[in-house]
Amino acid sequence: MTTYNNRGPKPESGKFLDFDHVTFWVGNAKQAASHYCVRLGFEPFAYKGLETGSRDVVAHVIRQDKIFFVFMSQLQPNIPKEMAEHLVMHGDGVKDIAFSVEDLDAIYKRAIERGAVSVKEPFDESDEHGTVRKATIQTYGDTTHTFIDRSKYKGEFLPGYKKPLHIDSLLPKLPVTGLVRIDHIVGNQPDQEMVPVADWYEKNLMFHRFWSVDDKQLHTEFSALRSTVVANYEETIKMPINEPAPGKRISQIQEYVDYYGGAGVQHIAMSTPDIIDTISKLRERGQHFLEVPDSYYDNLRKRLGNSPVSVKEDMNQLQKLKILVDFDDKGYLLQIFTKLMQDRPTLFLEVIQRHNHQGFGAGNFKALFEAFETDQAERGNL
Ligand SMILES: [Fe+2]
Repeated sequence: MTTYNNRGPKPESGKFLDFDHVTFWVGNAKQAASHYCVRLGFEPFAYKGLETGSRDVVAHVIRQDKIFFVFMSQLQPNIPKEMAEHLVMHGDGVKDIAFSVEDLDAIYKRAIERGAVSVKEPFDESDEHGTVRKATIQTYGDTTHTFIDRSKYKGEFLPGYKKPLHIDSLLPKLPVTGLVRIDHIVGNQPDQEMVPVADWYEKNLMFHRFWSVDDKQLHTEFSALRSTVVANYEETIKMPINEPAPGKRISQIQEYVDYYGGAGVQHIAMSTPDIIDTISKLRERGQHFLEVPDSYYDNLRKRLGNSPVSVKEDMNQLQKLKILVDFDDKGYLLQIFTKLMQDRPTLFLEVIQRHNHQGFGAGNFKALFEAFETDQAERGNL
């Protein structure tokens, strides 16, 4: 595992502020948005569709604190054609990761000059609340990045959007979940494409390598992966890039690539200041999470016993909720992964709480899978 201390040259112009929103292209935006609201604690925030004069595309925007997800579907048969083809190829998935930026034109111009492919040149969108400037470039697979400058806009979301059509009377009856912001968004790549993609972010967006781990560490007897995290200069945006590595069985990354039809977003990690409370509430809402056997916690207690780090949270609570712990000598993180968010084995979500630890859970990959294998062995099935 490597942590990097060199943030690279500070860009002379243009600044990435944060994740702005994530756009999903799905078959039925209305139902997808409702699912994320009910199970994950989002609330309807904005809408565009036939009622607002959007004839071809419908969008339901949902929000939880600083996290904004946009679910989009086509309205007409085969129009927009790009959305139709995307859905047939990829199923429901993340189409665009938008960043809020300062000096958008400088960021766009530099990226294009250095070789990024343009999807949409900088343009203004206005309504009675002001003007937003946007531009879009291609990144891995069919995924795109939109740059957004909101400095001259006072509206709630973006021009063209109105309030949601309906109030969902169920949502206020459900427990508050407390997710606050996007911590990182992970992109899966086909074999041998992690390094070129990480290089793409360094060269075109002036991101830098923040953290990486190779398959010597991220492996069990059966499967393996490599990961390199890139971040903007201020380290407010973190994008791990994964690729599969050879093992006895098919890597989970290869499974994703096979089912998504190429590179794409594997998971979105959202942070909470109180993961025990958040996961209790999400479980009350019926959200399912990856299971981990009790042997993981036996092993964890032993490893923590030999470490200078002390976990503040109640270990029995963490075990009951199946929350994972990763740590080094200075701090720890708590994390848990949802089951898949759609039928294809592609996108899932992560909930994370950091305590002075900037890693991404490398220690859990092995512990998690070995724990499964320990249980298999106890049953005589390994
Ligand atoms: Fe993650």
